[in-house]
Amino acid sequence: MKRFGSFAAWIGDRSEGRMLEVFFVPTMGALHQGHAALVKEARRMADADALRPVEVVVSIFINPTQFNEPGDFMAYPATPEEDVALLAAAGADTVIFPSVDEMYPSGIPGTSDMVDFGALTSVMEGAMRPGHFDGVVSVVRSLFKKTQPTSAFFGEKDWQQLAIVQRLVELEFDTLDVVPVQTVRESSGLAMSSRNSRLSEADRKKASMLSAEMMKVARHARPRAVVGFAVERLERAGFEVEYLEVRHGLTLAEAPWEPGAMRVFAAVCLGGVRLIDNFPCGN
Ligand code: PAJ
Repeated sequence: MKRFGSFAAWIGDRSEGRMLEVFFVPTMGALHQGHAALVKEARRMADADALRPVEVVVSIFINPTQFNEPGDFMAYPATPEEDVALLAAAGADTVIFPSVDEMYPSGIPGTSDMVDFGALTSVMEGAMRPGHFDGVVSVVRSLFKKTQPTSAFFGEKDWQQLAIVQRLVELEFDTLDVVPVQTVRESSGLAMSSRNSRLSEADRKKASMLSAEMMKVARHARPRAVVGFAVERLERAGFEVEYLEVRHGLTLAEAPWEPGAMRVFAAVCLGGVRLIDNFPCGN
């Protein structure tokens, strides 16, 4: 696996060899098996296509403009050496660690351009984390422009982000294929996340209650009727529930029930650590 400290260095290196098609996995590092699943899927798809030689490229950049809380940005874990080992094992060809200067040559903007994709950007994470998706869209757009991928891999763990990236791609990158990858979980059911490492041991055990309660709602015959009970049980156990909602999986609207299309979404805080998750209803 090749390692570069900038896109410029990678582009320089590429132009000397054969220009391969790029399958791209953008990340913020502190990688775990959830990220590895994206890379493995990219590798699998790349190897399955004998006709098109493909380079599986991963970027690691902790994007300052998508953190609405400065404390969250400062506390975001960085584990570059472990990340490189995980990516090599998962089958990446290239990892790029761009600098803030390369991503934001005129300095980190105080605010990113406002992105309005209707409900996609205004509900749930959009409502709870003002400016977050503006920062995500601006960095993802810039990463796509630098890497020019033909496929890009995103996790269903961040379902709303995935929906927003799909919309961005429809509008601005029409030849790019967005590949969703299923959420990878601990054996307890807790969705893997870089932030889980900030949970105390006791809270990490307790955190599995979130997926358990969400699954109960998702599998219930009338999920919307039991959301309130799940919130109550989580709050009694010490979770601060920001939202727990049943929405349409594509529009993210609180739409009338449509069989097969609805999902349960939640964001909670546990011991100061913010966790998000989502499940399809009816499975
Ligand atoms: P990050 O949180 O590092 O996540 C990178 C990718 O890994 C995202 O597509 C995310 O959905 C996926 N991912 C994280 N945990 C996962 C899990 N448990 N199972 C499956 N996939 C998982 O998301 C970001 O970074 C940033 O917003 C980024 C898109 C890189 C822009 O800065």
